[in-house]
Amino acid sequence: DPGATHAEKLLAWYDRHHRELPWRTSPAAAKAGKRADPYHVWLSEVMLQQTTVQAVKPYFEKFLARWPKVTDLAAAPSEDVMAAWAGLGYYARARNLKKCAEAVASEHGGIFPDTEEGLRALPGIGDYTSAAVAAIAFNRPSAVMDGNVERVISRLFAIDAPLPGSKPVMKAKVAALTPTDRPGDFAQAMMDLGATICTPKRPACALCPFRDDCLALSEHDPERFPVKAAK
Ligand code: ADE
Repeated sequence: DPGATHAEKLLAWYDRHHRELPWRTSPAAAKAGKRADPYHVWLSEVMLQQTTVQAVKPYFEKFLARWPKVTDLAAAPSEDVMAAWAGLGYYARARNLKKCAEAVASEHGGIFPDTEEGLRALPGIGDYTSAAVAAIAFNRPSAVMDGNVERVISRLFAIDAPLPGSKPVMKAKVAALTPTDRPGDFAQAMMDLGATICTPKRPACALCPFRDDCLALSEHDPERFPVKAAK
């Protein structure tokens, strides 16, 4: 449907092509009102920050089996958490994970805040994680931007300004596209699109739900985006 909005096109694509991931609620279940567990979403998003989906899966399962609730993780000895994290890299993430779990347990009775602002106030949670958890776990219309989303947006709008300076402009574009009815699925769909179709090299533009809208494709050079500042 060429008259559909960006969000409608992307969500129709996501309904058919979404990846099944252990921390994710299927689009059908999400539409029926089933939300993913905020603890699961938060844990997966922290793990996914500098690590691939495939590498994260076994760690995610291991952490949940060992610490089923955020209060269990909060009560765990730091050495155990660090040892369980071994292999994922970027160990500051594991220390922040533990601090955040402790704050949720001690200051929020083990219940994650359900707004982007409330999440952002927790230790070790930055702009990305607060927006992602607000959108995915609580269906808040937060603009979620990671490297995949930057690539999709910079191509869709042929943004010539280089990263990182273009981030605020890109975030405003994401915010403008984010729908109020399925913001969590929209955020995850943008990430899936970047990971599977709008790839850094040889993107599969023929399969893209934005193929009729993408300015980079109309200029015949999607790989030119995102433009990065000269080092
Ligand atoms: N990368 C980081 N978070 C993700 C998510 N929720 N879905 C897909 N890819 C991701």
